[in-house]
Amino acid sequence: MNMKTVVTAAIILFAAIYFSRPALAEGDLEAGRELGYTCFGCHGIEGYRNAYPSYRVPKLGGQKAGYLVIALQGYRDGTRSHPTMKAQASSMNGQDIEDVAAYFASIAGDTVAAGGAKNAAFAKAQTCVACHGQNGISVNAMWPTLAGQHADYLEQALHKYRDGTRKDLVMGAQAALIAAEDVAVLARYFSSLEGLETTRPE
Ligand code: HEC
Ligand code: HEC
Repeated sequence: MNMKTVVTAAIILFAAIYFSRPALAEGDLEAGRELGYTCFGCHGIEGYRNAYPSYRVPKLGGQKAGYLVIALQGYRDGTRSHPTMKAQASSMNGQDIEDVAAYFASIAGDTVAAGGAKNAAFAKAQTCVACHGQNGISVNAMWPTLAGQHADYLEQALHKYRDGTRKDLVMGAQAALIAAEDVAVLARYFSSLEGLETTRPE
């Protein structure tokens, strides 16, 4: 094969992959809105709590779409354990997950917040902002926005990374570096920033 053939073959291969999956690349908002209705029973009620252990159900409004997809796949595949969310995620196919993620990502959030007080917690959070964003609004669709999330949800999530019940290579390594007494401090700091919202039907 000469160079031209190789280049042409590469372009054809790229195009074949690219154009064979546009439907999966982006979720359908309308389909997501319908699927999302069953989620409001918990995620649409301000302050609604997980029964045991007790912590507030995470806000989804304005969360990053790519991250929502990864989270739902995690419940389905067992890198995250939660019986109800496993059942929810397992009832959806790949396209459903893309659709519902697109819907929640579109709701609100992503406000460019003013940022929190530049106190001791702010200083501790400086290692986190490379990924989670200067204002707690993540800089990458695959990483979660933390701004405005319930503090008790963030805190228990950090404990789960630290004890290995929630598995993620990147965040697992980060969480292991946090001093035990800083877990709650960081959770409260990111929660105090403006960002995510509890979603409810319009
Ligand atoms: C019966 C209550 C309930 C219902 C219904 C429910 N969820 Fe959840 N969801 C939870 C709880 C509790 C958690 C936190 C679980 C944990 O600690 O990992 C959660 C976590 C999540 C997360 C992880 C968020 C994050 O920031 O990590 C996503 C994404 C999610 N749910 C999406 C959905 C979607 C989409 C639906 C509807 C198809 C849905 N949930 C329906 C209770 C529910
Ligand atoms: C190198 C990038 C990176 C850095 C730095 C980082 N994180 Fe993360 N973080 C991630 C990724 C990726 C995830 C999603 C992992 C998953 O799917 O469970 C995550 C998830 C989280 C979650 C769970 C959010 C949710 O909605 O469930 C919390 C809480 C969190 N990070 C807090 C922190 C804190 C606090 C720091 C600083 C001490 C930090 N992170 C530093 C990449 C990073």
